[in-house]
Amino acid sequence: GPMIHSLSASEIEVLPYALLAVNSEGKITSLLRDVNPQRAQDALKALNFPPELVTIHYLGPGQFLIPGFVDTHNHAPQWAQRGLGQGMHILDWLDAITFPNEARFHDPEYARRIYSSCVDGFLRQGITTASYYGSIHGEATKTLARLCLEEGQRALVGKCNMTRNAPEYYRDASVEDSLRLTEECIDYVRSLDPAGNLVRHVLTPRFAISCDAEVLRGLGDIARNNPDLPIQTHFNEAEQEMKATRELFPQFASEADLYEHFGLLGERSILAHCCHMTDYEMERVKALGCGVAHCPISNMTVGGGFMAAPVREFLRRGIKVGLGTDSGGGFSSSILDAMRQAMIASYAREVMSKGQDKGLSVDEVFYLATLGGAQVCGLGDRIGNFEVGKDFDAIVVGTQGSEQGIMTVVEENDSLRTVFEKFIMTGDDRNLIKVYVQGRPVKG
Ligand code: GUN
Ligand code: FE
Repeated sequence: GPMIHSLSASEIEVLPYALLAVNSEGKITSLLRDVNPQRAQDALKALNFPPELVTIHYLGPGQFLIPGFVDTHNHAPQWAQRGLGQGMHILDWLDAITFPNEARFHDPEYARRIYSSCVDGFLRQGITTASYYGSIHGEATKTLARLCLEEGQRALVGKCNMTRNAPEYYRDASVEDSLRLTEECIDYVRSLDPAGNLVRHVLTPRFAISCDAEVLRGLGDIARNNPDLPIQTHFNEAEQEMKATRELFPQFASEADLYEHFGLLGERSILAHCCHMTDYEMERVKALGCGVAHCPISNMTVGGGFMAAPVREFLRRGIKVGLGTDSGGGFSSSILDAMRQAMIASYAREVMSKGQDKGLSVDEVFYLATLGGAQVCGLGDRIGNFEVGKDFDAIVVGTQGSEQGIMTVVEENDSLRTVFEKFIMTGDDRNLIKVYVQGRPVKG
């Protein structure tokens, strides 16, 4: 059937008659780009599969296949607070809305219930890979990792480290406790999925404000001893946050210097937001190979910056960029919404830069939501598009009849490209008919 995926930041491939072969381990073994639908059997024969072992899936009328979406930044314990406290500055919002809410994950039963709904909700929205911040709690974080594995979602799951500047009821009891719980979670996630095929632990210092220097140092040590573990934190999100960071760590001229000093910046670092970046910081981020989780919805609604990252400049410099829903920071956990908001934010940037930073195209935000996000999460050679050898993480999009939902109606002479554009700009979860992770159907 029809298939669309990104080849690079600027190039998508639109294939009206593609045939994709996926083996029993969920790996893509071949991609034939121009197959007459009446002759799919013959095309398969040429691939030398024993016919009795092959199942053929034909897409229905109006359906096409795209890679699964990657959410590079998202807070699982904020699932039940999405949309609250919009317009607040970041530290006020954390104190008033977020910390009391995240503290509830002390209760394992509450955690199981909300996380189950969260993982299910993200899968329904086509997010086949998520990089999750957990709460500070070990048990709840383990539950989240287990649920991702059970539900079949590819995920990075991190116990959140916080030892200061948070209420006593919601912070790690001590630096030692914070690091010990982290090690426990790392071991637990490894025991669940030893090869890290689907679920991995991600080191998650919330941000420098909530971490004593000893925690940052300890996490840097863990990172050095465990080169397989990704790292995530919030980075230059908003004025209020940056000012507080400077006051707590006056010895560092920038957040880049700060996190680099503690061994937390490198190719496996996922830096959320990066709204305010000096030339120097962009150079460091590029040189160290860090990825950016661009969260245009929360940047416009929570934080107080009301300014989203300079994505065009990042792309120009070859900095890895993906999209984050950052839910519950913003009001939406839909990556389609994040794609649209990324476009809106980029148009504002185009005006502010007097036309120098061109707004993002549909193709570019699609790239950010798929291949770009995969690269940010260190999974660029594994997922993100339909390259042979990658895992089959995919969404069947439906656009006609009962599958149309409220997206712009598809007309008879629409090209596949036009249908794709209508879906990206006006579709929603009603159009996501089936979702696969590693070849396994996880929704629909
Ligand atoms: N900075 C530290 N914690 C958070 C959070 O939960 N959300 C956002 N948007 N920024 C943060
Ligand atoms: Fe966040």
